[in-house]
Amino acid sequence: MKIGSISENKNFENRVAITPDIIRKYKSVGLDVHLSKDYALHLGISDKEYENEGASILTNNEEVISNSDAILQMNIPSDEYLNKLKENQILVGVLNPFKNEKKLKDISSKNINCFSLELLPRITRAQSMDILSSQANLAGYKAVVDSFAFFQKAIPMMMTAAGTISAAKVLVVGAGVAGLQAIATAKRMGAIVFATDVRLASKEQVESLGGKFLIVEGAENLETEGGYAKEGSDEFKKKQENLLRETLKKIDIVVCTALIPGKEAPLIIKKDMIDLMQNGSVIYDLAASQGGNSELTKVNEVVDCNGVKIIGEKNILNKLPVSASNLYARNMFNFVSNLFDQEKKTFKINLEDEIIEKTKVI
Ligand code: NAI
Repeated sequence: MKIGSISENKNFENRVAITPDIIRKYKSVGLDVHLSKDYALHLGISDKEYENEGASILTNNEEVISNSDAILQMNIPSDEYLNKLKENQILVGVLNPFKNEKKLKDISSKNINCFSLELLPRITRAQSMDILSSQANLAGYKAVVDSFAFFQKAIPMMMTAAGTISAAKVLVVGAGVAGLQAIATAKRMGAIVFATDVRLASKEQVESLGGKFLIVEGAENLETEGGYAKEGSDEFKKKQENLLRETLKKIDIVVCTALIPGKEAPLIIKKDMIDLMQNGSVIYDLAASQGGNSELTKVNEVVDCNGVKIIGEKNILNKLPVSASNLYARNMFNFVSNLFDQEKKTFKINLEDEIIEKTKVI
């Protein structure tokens, strides 16, 4: 059986689904790999590197599609290529089925099996496939590094003959996967780190990384059975606002990562709270494309509000696409090898497997 991957639309995506180091793994389970010409040249990875690992480079995307049993991507392909998929082919990627409902419906008559990796259940067996975690982890790291680049002061405390520079104070809003990596990164760089979350379980995790957890007094634990956050009541929001309004006066850098699955990102930092922040402070909003955690966030813009810079980042993973692709490619391999019956050398869509059932969109 053969798997293939076509070039992503580089206007908005730098990551790729297959990296050279993963080719041998596919071959070892009995899958040949086809890629289109110059597949990852924009990442500094030549076709030769892929070929040396055993991949076949084909002239263009059409050839890859027509010669592969499964197509593995980062994003859903454009209509041009989606319409070229063959009967019974498999498509795996981050297909965003809610946004792309019509596109997927249009190809459903061809019996194409589409799997969307952001729908993976967060069970132990699926951890090695968990693209949300691998990508969020990198996003949290990069958000801190980028926000520090916007900040015009040093981060760690420095005692010098010319005097002492005090450590920067960082607040991480939302302590999920991205938030925890942001805390760890900021701590490593010498910042004093505060964090807040609506899931009380995150308190221990924040503290284990050396962060100070800001707790909304008297608030209930807003955690669903699945481990995600749910929206707070108006009373909760008021209490959280009061807590953060006071905190923000002394914070230098805020990294926002708060999300509620299936909803707009919660609005946590309002304009009047930003007005209280010190000139030169930075708000880095990773939730920008879901509406933003700050009222002034604009996607892919740097807004200046009386000296406070608010950065709305749409796809931060495009800023470290090599690392993001490496992790994504491993997640993808683990998913595909679970879908592939190595004894019978064929793909097997076993809907009794929760991983397969939950990710299958058509
Ligand atoms: P996420 O990306 O959906 O949200 C980020 C964080 O924002 C969450 O921690 C959430 O509680 C927080 N948040 C939401 N509303 C907020 C508000 N108003 N104020 C402050 N914080 C707010 O979450 P992520 O990173 O995907 O993690 C969600 C859950 O999934 C966690 O319980 C995590 O431990 C769990 N998880 C499980 C994995 C596994 O078992 N394979 C892997 C990764 C995460």
